[in-house]
Amino acid sequence: MQVLRKAFTQQLDQSVTAFVNSVDADEALVEVDIQGSIAHATMLCQQGLLTEAQGTSIVAGLKTILAEYQEGKFTLNPVFEDVHMNVEKRLEQLIGQDALRLHTARSRNDQVALDLRLFVLGQIALHKTQITVLKSAIAKCALANIEAVMPGYTHLQRAQPVLFAHAMHAFMEMLERDFGRFCDLEKRTAVSPLGAGAQAGTGLPIDPHLSAKLLGLPTCFNNSIDAVSDRDFVAEYLFAASMCSVHLSQMAETFVIWATREFGFVTFSDAVTTASSLMPQKKNPDPVEIVRGKAGGMMGELINVLSTLKGLPLGYNRDLQETKPPAIKVGKELSGCLNVMAVAVNSMTVNSATTLKAASDPDMITTDLVEYLVNKSVPFRKAHEEVSALVAFAREKNVSLSTLTLAEMQSFSKEYDSDALALFDPVVSVNAKTSYGSTGTARVKAVAESRD
Ligand code: ARG
Repeated sequence: MQVLRKAFTQQLDQSVTAFVNSVDADEALVEVDIQGSIAHATMLCQQGLLTEAQGTSIVAGLKTILAEYQEGKFTLNPVFEDVHMNVEKRLEQLIGQDALRLHTARSRNDQVALDLRLFVLGQIALHKTQITVLKSAIAKCALANIEAVMPGYTHLQRAQPVLFAHAMHAFMEMLERDFGRFCDLEKRTAVSPLGAGAQAGTGLPIDPHLSAKLLGLPTCFNNSIDAVSDRDFVAEYLFAASMCSVHLSQMAETFVIWATREFGFVTFSDAVTTASSLMPQKKNPDPVEIVRGKAGGMMGELINVLSTLKGLPLGYNRDLQETKPPAIKVGKELSGCLNVMAVAVNSMTVNSATTLKAASDPDMITTDLVEYLVNKSVPFRKAHEEVSALVAFAREKNVSLSTLTLAEMQSFSKEYDSDALALFDPVVSVNAKTSYGSTGTARVKAVAESRD
């Protein structure tokens, strides 16, 4: 069986039907398609393009299809090409002739643009909630381990002691920006294209502003060609999602390193570790590794959509159908990643004795020695050189910096006093940080309490 082919002399080739249909992706759009059609029918009714009875019958029929879909009784047939024609055909079966009026002053071009916008808006709302949940898991973990001191790293080399909570708060900052990006693109996505028709609008007395209002969208399109042509909102969504996935991937990689026996900073509970088929001792952080692994695929979908869009001439082009699967795939993947990361953070134990031991490496106190000398009015570059020479001396002697005597230290700078020896303590080092946004305990505690 074929659709819309009265003007054709041949049936569509079967293999071509299989190729052009979009029912696999459209499974994710059934609910929003029906939501759009209900708004469209209501608008047509209010504009006098449908009688009250016709409008009521169409809306009731659409609600029945929605219920059927939710009960798993409405499935899409590839022969009808897409979700739009499937819904229309089912509506005709349910209510008869009135169904033939639903598509008045509408094209599948503005219809699919609306469906995808509504779908993306749904994903944005979901991700915003999930980011909030993940952020509170991180905040809880930071607060519960507020005293834990660990090495901070640059180039994955030990740099300076920091609070574990400060590192966790860094991830929260990233997530807050991700949240902001979703809020920004939400505004540009919440624009109704309904009423643009195929690309020229219509001579029938429709009201696109009313359609937007009925859909709960703040505004409608300004230009009918643009409304059906562009998918920049999909690309923006995929960028925001990719950026978020990159942050989650970095977080995942950090946790994987922290959870190694070599670091031992954190332990994941059995709720987020998986077994080896061969090695009985293994408890692997696979779920977190998969989060790291998923980022590449999401970034790929961004390039996929940008590449599809870049060569398109103005107007609706069927290539646009190819922008649906990336949005659907990325929505599902990002949602899974955000969820797993929240579970992982909730199940993470911080081994504060191990982090403190690692943070007690005296080498990480050299910057504090430099600041000590700067406080005694030694110019920064000179202080840096003097401490570098001290480091070289200790390395030459093959001893730890903290075992040097005051006299030895004074041979590199006469400014050292006995209080300099007390600097070799990671807690002292952390407490000494007072600058804005630093790891200083007082500041981090204030952040932790404000985010609780
Ligand atoms: N299935 C199409 C899509 O997903 C919508 C239909 C528009 N088709 C057309 N021939 N104008 O973009």
